[in-house]
Amino acid sequence: QTSSPDVWQVVSQQCSGRFQSPINIVTRKMLPDEQLTPFHLVGYQKTFHGRLTNNGHTVQLDLPLGIMIKVGRLAENYKAVQVHFHWGQNGGPGSEHTIDGEQFPMEMHIVHIKEEYDSLSQAVKDQTGVAVLGFLFQESETTNKKYTPLVDALTRIIEPSSNTTLTDISLEMLIPPKEDLAKYFRYHGSLTTPDCAEAVVWTLFESTIPLSRNQLRFSDGTQMVQTYRPVQPLNARQVYYSKGQILVVSWVLLIMSVLLSSALPQYSEG
Ligand SMILES: *[C@@H]1O[C@H](CO)[C@@H](O)[C@H](O)[C@H]1NC(C)=O
Ligand SMILES: [Zn+2]
Repeated sequence: QTSSPDVWQVVSQQCSGRFQSPINIVTRKMLPDEQLTPFHLVGYQKTFHGRLTNNGHTVQLDLPLGIMIKVGRLAENYKAVQVHFHWGQNGGPGSEHTIDGEQFPMEMHIVHIKEEYDSLSQAVKDQTGVAVLGFLFQESETTNKKYTPLVDALTRIIEPSSNTTLTDISLEMLIPPKEDLAKYFRYHGSLTTPDCAEAVVWTLFESTIPLSRNQLRFSDGTQMVQTYRPVQPLNARQVYYSKGQILVVSWVLLIMSVLLSSALPQYSEG
């Protein structure tokens, strides 16, 4: 009753490399890396009309030109090409990455490729050709109104290979607020669908996106369930953590500037 199993069949035959994704992130084994500074998101606030397609194994939003990330430790710029989602069944566990063994109800991937490439198929030939930003979702009591246009659009593409246009959307609407993006995990891995190319610089954000139970059940009519790949062995890899230390620095600067300003002579405004 689902179109997913054939995809996972292929995965098990082809995707047997040593640097596969997703993984379980063990927080006590992460290494802090101060070079993992906050992202510069370019064009994320830009409003656009995008095609949303049910491709039989996920729901994908194609992105216009001009959306980019500039990242600490990644020398080059990466341009965003598409967004897609992984989920479970009836709002149950469905994320691909897990944190200390915990699986979340859903995960969003914003897929970027190095600026110099024209397509994902070109970019996967480069070990660091692809940068995926991953976001985990958590069930909340209240409806996340920023997701209403997307959840509404999903009801129009229940049939496999159908598509619809999502109007007046921006990536900023889909992700946590900028101040919550300083903390993230980084490791090197693969695409989680065939051919599982080991070309991905993974960034998984610690801050989650809240969706109500009803919103998480959007996929109920699509006949697509459990669209996630199970976690893969870490093998000889290290997961790094940004610690969000830039926020700490800015606090220090703020406190210093308060101290300095109180130490300066005061002029009365008379
Ligand atoms: C979108 O759907 C229409 C039919 O509603 C179809 O003609 C068109 O080829 C589809 N486009 C893509 C890119 O899948
Ligand atoms: Zn994905």
